[in-house]
Amino acid sequence: MNSVVVAGAQWGDEGKGKVVDFFAQQANVIVRYAGGNNAGHTIVVRGEKTILHLIPSGILHKDKVGVLGNGMVVDPAVLLQEMEGLAGRGIKLTSKNFFISERAHIIMPYHRRIDSAREGAKSKQGKIGTTGRGIGPAYEDKATRAGIRFVDLLDEEVFAERLRAVLKEKNAYLKHVLKQPGFSFAAVRKEYLGYAKRLKRYVTDVSLLLEDLLLKGKKILFEGAQGIMLDIDHGTYPFVTSSNAGVGGVLAGCGIAPYFLQEIVGVIKAYTTRVGGGPFPTELQDAVGGHLRREGAEYGATTGRPRRCGWFDAVVGRYGVRVNGFTGLALTKLDTLTGLDPLRICTGYRVGRKRLTEFPADIRQVERAKPIYEEMPGWQEDIRDARRLEDLPGNAIRYVRRLETLLGVPFFLMSVGPQREQSIIVENPFET
Ligand code: GDP
Ligand code: IMO
Ligand code: MG
Repeated sequence: MNSVVVAGAQWGDEGKGKVVDFFAQQANVIVRYAGGNNAGHTIVVRGEKTILHLIPSGILHKDKVGVLGNGMVVDPAVLLQEMEGLAGRGIKLTSKNFFISERAHIIMPYHRRIDSAREGAKSKQGKIGTTGRGIGPAYEDKATRAGIRFVDLLDEEVFAERLRAVLKEKNAYLKHVLKQPGFSFAAVRKEYLGYAKRLKRYVTDVSLLLEDLLLKGKKILFEGAQGIMLDIDHGTYPFVTSSNAGVGGVLAGCGIAPYFLQEIVGVIKAYTTRVGGGPFPTELQDAVGGHLRREGAEYGATTGRPRRCGWFDAVVGRYGVRVNGFTGLALTKLDTLTGLDPLRICTGYRVGRKRLTEFPADIRQVERAKPIYEEMPGWQEDIRDARRLEDLPGNAIRYVRRLETLLGVPFFLMSVGPQREQSIIVENPFET
């Protein structure tokens, strides 16, 4: 297949970076379609760890093209820093191998300040636990038509005019509602025109570019950020991010036609994690939760916060498969389960007297949901060197097969460690 989407099937941090890097070996172009630097995608190659927030994972391979779609919100300072970091390691982004959509929205300093101040003002229970990167306020401006896009930034006059109008409102809101200092028009204008100068050469019509590449037969990998349960429409609203993290975000976030989408791969952990606030039915606050956090090194790649951990939730898994139309899955972090016995899988929820097998929209129901578990025997063997399904102990194979049955889609890849080669490949979506 010429186009493959790789998207998160849970609450983010499923290991998309690793899986994208792995499948990117067969791709020519890797495209981020949603989110911004709230994402933190980790890739480990020959022991060296790289965390990417904006630049598509896949760029570590030679001769790949990276693209930022219009569905993203981009913080130019963070992007330039990330580009410099890569350049220092010999990975040079040029106007031939890196493109930014002219329609992508820009994160401004007031977005960051509003994000943090709003979170600070919320009660402990109401906190979304955002990454504080200004993501929500930037998407909010996009929706209220107060956003600034790259194409606007590149025209000095248009930029000044928009900034002047928007800043007036933002400063009043910051000062009077959030009790925070505002921003000087001249300083922000100068700072951002500086970014414009450095980024101009990469800005293009991404929709046209991708169509041209697809028609030429190039292989394109669409890299999701976050996960379906953080999707603004399909996630645990309001404890979500502000964009369509699911497959729906690809069309809107890149400007390509639906018939180009062929394989859609969900990345799913062998258990569940969540970072930030919001309900999480299978969350464990006991020794098993501690084992998952410790063995899985479950600390945020963007904020360093400890991730909340729990058993595999097949209600969430099936929901993700249905809403995204996953044609296959990449199961990650199977190695983290080594040593736990028995293993539990959530197959439904009990809410009061009701038994639910579909994920509810009502957040209060999710908060009250008590998981219904089935148990499976665990394994003690170290599986990090497994490279074929047959290398896994019987109980690990039985666990994987049970998940496949519950989810109704095959695993294309199973990951048994953070390194690129710690992968069991069953099927390559670019080769189907
Ligand atoms: P992403 O946001 O979906 O790209 O995921 P993150 O990079 O935020 O978090 C996943 C973490 O798990 C990273 O530290 C990865 O290096 C690590 N990881 C990925 N796959 C595996 C795996 O199969 N086993 C283990 N132990 N770690 C993994
Ligand atoms: P990757 O791509 C995990 C969570 C935040 C918070 C909520 C809203 O690495 O999987 P935001 O800053 O987006 O307004 O925060 O969403 N969140 C993530 N959690 N992985 C991510 O990205 C996330 N991006 C945002 O913790 O709960
Ligand atoms: Mg992450």
